[in-house]
Amino acid sequence: MSSPNDILNRLFKETTPQDRLYPKKDKEIQGFDLEEILNTNIYNVMLNRRSQRKFEAREIEDWKLEIIFAAADTAPTAGGFQGFEIFHIKNSDIKLKLVSAANNQPYVNAPLVLVFCMNPTRVKMNFGPNILKKFSIQDATLAAAYAQLAAHSLGLSSIWIGMIDEKKVMEAINTDLIPSSILCIGYPKKLLQPKPKRALSELIHVV
Ligand SMILES: Cc1cc2nc3c(=O)[nH]c(=O)nc-3n(C[C@H](O)[C@H](O)[C@H](O)COP(=O)(O)O)c2cc1C
Repeated sequence: MSSPNDILNRLFKETTPQDRLYPKKDKEIQGFDLEEILNTNIYNVMLNRRSQRKFEAREIEDWKLEIIFAAADTAPTAGGFQGFEIFHIKNSDIKLKLVSAANNQPYVNAPLVLVFCMNPTRVKMNFGPNILKKFSIQDATLAAAYAQLAAHSLGLSSIWIGMIDEKKVMEAINTDLIPSSILCIGYPKKLLQPKPKRALSELIHVV
């Protein structure tokens, strides 16, 4: 089992302050026990996660962003080639274009918007293009799922957006890469109870 220190190392030790994507100020993490957060019981997070479409306008702290990105990057990927890319949308005009690309779902204009794209060219395996595409969509999807769980462990909520016009998203973020999903994250306006699911006996098919 990997130690939470692995993530701590990546966040705080491996890169020099100049290299960091999101340089943190120490005061930002005062009042939070980072070790405690990184030791969060994953079952609690999974069992309590609930999709959220109403977010407070409040910005998300940089150190929380870093944990979300580092968590996404712990996901398994085909051959370990990380066949995906994450676009962090900061530009408010682009967020509005993404609302339009997502069938006008207004909550896509969230405090934190991440577009997960497939990048099959990173997957250097000797298989046909269909397999590489299949791998990269799974890579991007898993990374988004890990990011979603990490967000919830940090007291944030999220909504997964799969209803997207791929071409419009690609135009909005100016990429040739095909998007697999958009993850919209923010502080929830109101905490919602997890949705009931079907019985495991219906879900599991023993053959
Ligand atoms: C592949 C996929 C696509 C989804 N697309 C959308 C979407 O476009 N818009 C939306 O509001 N929710 C979307 N959702 C969120 C689901 O509606 C939500 O996960 C589902 O209702 C179960 O609720 P829960 O996440 O609270 O368990 C999507 C979820 C998944 C996994």
